[in-house]
Amino acid sequence: MRENPIILGIETSCDETSAAVLRGDELLSNVISSQIEIHRRFGGVVPEIASRNHLTAILPVIDEALDKAGVCKTDLDAIGVTYGAGLVGALLVGVSAAKALAYALNIPLYAVNHIEAHIAANYLSYPQLQPPFLAVVASGGHTGVARVDGRNDFTMISSTTDDAIGEAFDKVARALGLPYPGGPEIDRLARTGEANIEFMERKRGKAAELSYSGLKTAVVNYLHNLEQKGENPNLPDVCASFQKTAVGMLADRAAQAVKATGITTVVAAGGVSANSYLRERLKADGEKLGYMVYFPPMSLCTDNAAMVAVRARDMMAAGVKPASLDLNAVSYLKIKGGSI
Ligand code: KG4
Ligand code: ZN
Repeated sequence: MRENPIILGIETSCDETSAAVLRGDELLSNVISSQIEIHRRFGGVVPEIASRNHLTAILPVIDEALDKAGVCKTDLDAIGVTYGAGLVGALLVGVSAAKALAYALNIPLYAVNHIEAHIAANYLSYPQLQPPFLAVVASGGHTGVARVDGRNDFTMISSTTDDAIGEAFDKVARALGLPYPGGPEIDRLARTGEANIEFMERKRGKAAELSYSGLKTAVVNYLHNLEQKGENPNLPDVCASFQKTAVGMLADRAAQAVKATGITTVVAAGGVSANSYLRERLKADGEKLGYMVYFPPMSLCTDNAAMVAVRARDMMAAGVKPASLDLNAVSYLKIKGGSI
């Protein structure tokens, strides 16, 4: 392997078509074509429409990423592609493009787990970051706390048993009549509100497990009750109250994991790690409980291919076996499970 291999990352798991070029530790380009505007009028991502738009975007996005990086396809040493978790039709577009390129260029292809990539995004901004550390995973599809014991060793030690935190943000936002994606809207409105409504965490299963579906239902029931009385909700207060509970539940699991493992480095990962209250809360908890907390820059919180390229680089460096050309997309792909 070259000392600083040039890796193309490809990401199409949901509604962002993205390609990035990484040379060693240096990110040369990260092109993201978002479909948010296309899906907004439906109030959420329509899988079939997402796949069709990935198809038209994928090759121009790859070409733009190579152009911006100033490299040719023949300079590439490897390709990394998200093969799961995500929308299967959307994933297939990236996987097919990656396989075709890897075959034509005769270079290795790495099958990247999307959640591991979200965690690995932190290595781009914090070169000093080294395992072991804990990762607070907060995305639209996955939520929990992972233990990272090596560059290629991830274990989920606390997970949601139903909805993901981002899904809860989006569903609550929809109930409030806010546009898709709801997370950033709730974040914005919550800044002017007071967390003065009691939306309690609904505990289910083991102490380390999380549940977001009950919390979402509690907010929806609160809104229905007001509606029946002919009253209007105070949107900023509802947002601040929901956000405080949703984030607090996850921050509590992180605190529990820090205490149980003695690991005092925590990173945030996934789209909801862009949330301002989540950042504030983890920072405050870190000061109180004695852990260091790292956040990816905003541009690397939501879906992007830079994180996929970083993950592929780590797999390549460790000698992980490249994927074969019969690689398929996997909609439900988890990180191995463990307990706190
Ligand atoms: O990681 P991501 O881009 O996609 C998945 O892997 O699922 O996460 C998308 C999620 C969406 O649910 C979106 O509403 C949420 O991240 N999100 C936020 C914020 N920015 C994005 N949630 C709360 N506050 C934000 N500022
Ligand atoms: Zn994601």
